[in-house]
Amino acid sequence: MRLKDKVALISGSGSGIGEATAKRLAEEGAAVVVVDLNEEGAKRVAGEIRGRGFVAEAVRANVGNPAEVEAMIRFAVDKFGRLDILHNNAIRLYTGRVGEMSLDNWRKAVEIGLTSYWYATRCALEVMVRQRKGAIINTGSVSGLAGDYGLGAYNAIKAGVINLTRTTAIEYARKGIRCNAVCPGAILTPPILKSRQALPDLARNTEAAIPMGRYGEPVEIANVVLFLASDEASYVNGTCIVADGGLTAHTGIPSVAGSGPDW
Ligand SMILES: NC(=O)c1ccc[n+]([C@@H]2O[C@H](COP(=O)([O-])OP(=O)(O)OC[C@H]3O[C@@H](n4cnc5c(N)ncnc54)[C@H](O)[C@@H]3O)[C@@H](O)[C@H]2O)c1
Repeated sequence: MRLKDKVALISGSGSGIGEATAKRLAEEGAAVVVVDLNEEGAKRVAGEIRGRGFVAEAVRANVGNPAEVEAMIRFAVDKFGRLDILHNNAIRLYTGRVGEMSLDNWRKAVEIGLTSYWYATRCALEVMVRQRKGAIINTGSVSGLAGDYGLGAYNAIKAGVINLTRTTAIEYARKGIRCNAVCPGAILTPPILKSRQALPDLARNTEAAIPMGRYGEPVEIANVVLFLASDEASYVNGTCIVADGGLTAHTGIPSVAGSGPDW
């Protein structure tokens, strides 16, 4: 049990990467608070975890609402007496070219994908600083490391999440708190599965661009979060672990092998 006696709160854990993380952390001994805007999803995941004999509670919260963020952190502390792990992970994805996106969608993207990560971090720090121990993990993305066509708002918030991670790490390192990010590539979560069905050409091109030739599974990201949350990562701070099947190791230029004489 790598997380025995620890308490973890995971936002957006009624589906996808958050769901897989809640389940992995619970399997390793953590009591988990499964937070999601979708109450049904949160209850399903917490129920499945409890059904396997582990500890979980479901909380419906909109992380875009500061009062609900305060309440979810308070819930974890009231219920389990402490908070050791915060995983900021929820997202609302808005697509659109930089020159065409609406101001309203930009603001909503930033509110859920970046401001809420900062505010939940701020609330959790109050508890973790008192404990003189804690691990905060933010879900970044390879889309925070480079640009994507049609994902300008997402690129901006994920880059912001990665740098928020670094600042949190350096400011609180001497108070016993570590903060790291995981940067997934293309992972088969429900929204990606849906788009794979609707846009098979895009899916084929995505797979072709990934050196490993396949999408990742949510548990392959959950395992990275588990490591970052555990004491095995005791000297890992302010970093961002990329888990993308090799996608960002490639410049994007097609192979020149066998294309002719050397220059
Ligand atoms: N799937 C991928 O390919 C991929 C790649 C890189 C990064 N990510 C990141 O992983 C994280 C999880 O994405 P996913 O693919 O598992 O998506 P998902 O849709 O399966 O899960 C996201 C969850 O967040 C919840 N949510 C949305 N708005 C919320 C709010 N305001 N308050 C609380 N919960 C809210 C949704 O209800 C949903 O259950 C995101 O941060 C995403 O950017 C995903």
